Amino acid sequence: MPPRPWALLAELTHGCPLHCAYCSNPLELVERKAELTTEQWADALRQAADIGVVSAHLSGGEPLLRSDLDAIVAAADGAGIHTQLITSGVGLTRARLGRLVEAGLRSVQLSVQHAEPSASDLIAGRRSFAAKERAAALVRDAGLPLGLNVVLHRHNLDALDALIDLGLAWGADRIELANTQFYGWALHNRTELLPSREQLDRAQRTVRLRRTELTGTLEVIWVVPDYFDGKAKPCMGGWGALSLTVAPDGTVLPCPAAASIPDLGAPNVRDHRLEWIWDRSPTFRRYRGTEWMRDPCRSCDLREKDFGGCRCQAFALTGDATATDPACRLSPHHSLVRDLVDTRPEQTATGLGRPRRPTRRGTITQEGAAE
Ligand code: SF4
Ligand code: FES
Repeated sequence: MPPRPWALLAELTHGCPLHCAYCSNPLELVERKAELTTEQWADALRQAADIGVVSAHLSGGEPLLRSDLDAIVAAADGAGIHTQLITSGVGLTRARLGRLVEAGLRSVQLSVQHAEPSASDLIAGRRSFAAKERAAALVRDAGLPLGLNVVLHRHNLDALDALIDLGLAWGADRIELANTQFYGWALHNRTELLPSREQLDRAQRTVRLRRTELTGTLEVIWVVPDYFDGKAKPCMGGWGALSLTVAPDGTVLPCPAAASIPDLGAPNVRDHRLEWIWDRSPTFRRYRGTEWMRDPCRSCDLREKDFGGCRCQAFALTGDATATDPACRLSPHHSLVRDLVDTRPEQTATGLGRPRRPTRRGTITQEGAAE
């Protein structure tokens, strides 16, 4: 029997008022009308609890776009699942948060793009910084744990000190500084987002210093960038090992980016029980464990530790999801990553080029396009 999952990422919608160029949602966004209903989400969460899930991240897109969010939270809470809301903060009101807390919401993670309001709005593709600041205050007033999440890239890495100060000023318990993982829109905009080695070195020094200074005050999490150090990341703690993702239309995936692997045949909660999906579906068994590996992973001492890196990244960069993740220096394709990092183009004069950004309907527009 496979290990039991403990975490579920519920992508309630791909709809979002923001247009971040680093978004990891797929280029083909699920339309609002194809989303699961309230009862289908409630049922999926009850089934998740039955197979061992104890923690759900309610994410998107922007989950606040779901008017039934409190009912979904209540269903999770009733099934014994701890819920965390992952939000941009846009659209959060005191009354709405009150209903969510009453339904059983346990914590909130707020995305922040930059410490400077104008830079934050530019990266988010719309005015949103003030709404985030208000949302942080509401979460603190409601007595919920508050985390900030910052996706890092060349346009905000140099603001790391100021971002940590922002976390302190907004009363956060935790700040997650997550270097961009290149999936979906972020992969598409990779050359606009990739930082320099010097930027990363400076940022790492800052994190080390501030962590020591802030011990016991603000938890500082640093999510390493796998393109730079020649080491593959243990993606998702292994395929089908710890967690699962339910996409807005009910597709169940071992990770949020797996829909990009074309022949995966991912199952849907509308058609199958989660228990079957987790235990027996070909999708979840496909890269579970180490049997599927080829060399160099198959004979590598680290294969039980990093699981050969990320299947989605291996597919995105080599066209073969069974290949060793090119982020690993032992991969025969490592030059795909190393050359990119070493020949990274110079930063544009505006500081944010003209990336292509996701819109709510999934069409591609240039920066600054109206919703
Ligand atoms: Fe990990 Fe495979 Fe690289 Fe070994 S060869 S370090 S298992 S990715
Ligand atoms: Fe899919 Fe890494 S993101 S396995």
